[in-house]
Amino acid sequence: MIDYKELVAKAIYDAGVGLELPEIMDVVEVPADDKMGDYAFPCFKLAKVLKKAPPMIAKDIAGKLEGNPLFAKVEPVNAYVNMFMSKEEFVKSVLSEVIEKGEGYGRSDIGGGKTVIVEYSSPNIAKPFHIGHIRSTVIGNAIYKLYDALGYKTVRINHLGDYGTQFGKMICAYRHWGNEEDVKREPIKTLLEYYTKFHVEVETHPELDDEARAIFAKLEKGEPEEVRLWQWFRDESLKEFNRVYDMLGISYDSYAGESFYSDKMPAIEKELEEKGLMKESEGAMIVDLEPYGMPPALIKKSDGSSLYITRDLAAANYRKDHYNFYKNLYIVASQQNLHFQQWIKILELMGREWAHDCVHIPFGLVSLEDGTMSTRHGRVVFLEDVLNRAVEKTKEIILEKNPNAENVDEIAKAVGIGAVIFQELSNSKIKDYVFSWNKVLNFEGETGPYVQYAHARACSVLRNAGDSVVAAAQKVESLDMNYLTGESAYKLAKEIYDFPAAILEAAEKYEPSILTRHIVDVAQSFNKFYYDEHILVDNEAEKLAKVALVYAAKSTIAAGLNLLGMKAPEKM
Ligand code: ARG
Repeated sequence: MIDYKELVAKAIYDAGVGLELPEIMDVVEVPADDKMGDYAFPCFKLAKVLKKAPPMIAKDIAGKLEGNPLFAKVEPVNAYVNMFMSKEEFVKSVLSEVIEKGEGYGRSDIGGGKTVIVEYSSPNIAKPFHIGHIRSTVIGNAIYKLYDALGYKTVRINHLGDYGTQFGKMICAYRHWGNEEDVKREPIKTLLEYYTKFHVEVETHPELDDEARAIFAKLEKGEPEEVRLWQWFRDESLKEFNRVYDMLGISYDSYAGESFYSDKMPAIEKELEEKGLMKESEGAMIVDLEPYGMPPALIKKSDGSSLYITRDLAAANYRKDHYNFYKNLYIVASQQNLHFQQWIKILELMGREWAHDCVHIPFGLVSLEDGTMSTRHGRVVFLEDVLNRAVEKTKEIILEKNPNAENVDEIAKAVGIGAVIFQELSNSKIKDYVFSWNKVLNFEGETGPYVQYAHARACSVLRNAGDSVVAAAQKVESLDMNYLTGESAYKLAKEIYDFPAAILEAAEKYEPSILTRHIVDVAQSFNKFYYDEHILVDNEAEKLAKVALVYAAKSTIAAGLNLLGMKAPEKM
């Protein structure tokens, strides 16, 4: 993409003003009020160099830029040179770029193939996959897609919670009260029932706790019968998770969860020991973090069993060795802030110079209208139910509007699930929110369906224009850009131009909502253009130019939806 600011700076440099190009780049600005031009050059810095009054210099530079085809107008105003870009040139360069790239518009190779690990979703085995998990899952997927679009080599990891003392309890409960058929029929619900029953029974039968601990110890030692049951629970749970991932169009490069690190923890413990970082406390092994204002990190329990943070230390080391990452990103709830602060401090203390290439990307809490979610109290909304209901509701809306609609199921799926994803990615990720069925099933306003509809509308204009017109419209050199300098066309072209910058900013800030909001802006500008202007006019030259802009808007919206993990149906 042409960087206009750079072109402007270059033009000023070529005019020979006495500053180096980077210095000029530094001061060129975009005026807050576009009546002052698209770019402005303040002359204060030069005044010091040239020992001349700024307005004089501004006048001088404006004179030198006069006649440059890049500009429609150059005006000295006090200490500033205000520059108005040639709208025709601008729109032309935007259209050329989008038409060349199509739905790949906005992609770049800034990343140069460096490896970025994105760890997201990471639910716990045998626990419900609920609405609280949507955040890590959907935000993480968008962050992965953003880095992929920027030319990084990405590795998607699902760090499954598939290890820990709770599996001792679950196996114990299964042996006492379980049966195979029930687990097969409804794995997560059944396993959860066992787990809950264990907690009830242990109140009156404390010996169950010892039994569960012994079972977990066997599991850690790799005893076949314990491993078999654990593996079976894991497989059944993963089947359920995968149903939801399929609906969301999400897949992974690795499902190396906590259990994967079970044989990699002793090395970490040994190193902590050797470096004098670990000490005993009431029979357990801890890293004292008091000097850093944090509670101690528990590395090994007094019964010898390993812990969550130990597995995360092993995981970071393994990932560095195995993938040699440039960045290792963890999309995990802000409730785990302390865990990740302790963990990164320990990596630092261990002397890992790459510790700060590991980044915890936190997000806010999802609660329910009747309070926080609680698996134990049955207050949970399953993610699968949310997606299914959104699809059903979309189907009803489509059939209400058009009883003979084609491909209803496919479109309802794309739009219904898209609505849930889009809503999730619309707000700043760190904000807490209360889940509400009304909100998630409301498709009015700046929602996913609104954006998808703008895309489908653009597709319909292109269908009506016909293939030969659409093909001719892609020969940008021969188009007459004078038809695209009106207010709404120019505004749309500007939004399209800003799309790659929105991708970059969203990725750098780990904030997909920046892109979401930008796509809404593109869709709104497209709709305004569609209402303000007649597109398929008789005048051939005017029609071709306008069809080219519609094509560019369509490609941009489709590219944007794709980066958020949504489909862009051509008909709705
Ligand atoms: N399984 C954990 C949970 O559900 C999240 C794991 C986050 N990732 C990590 N590397 N600690 O809370």
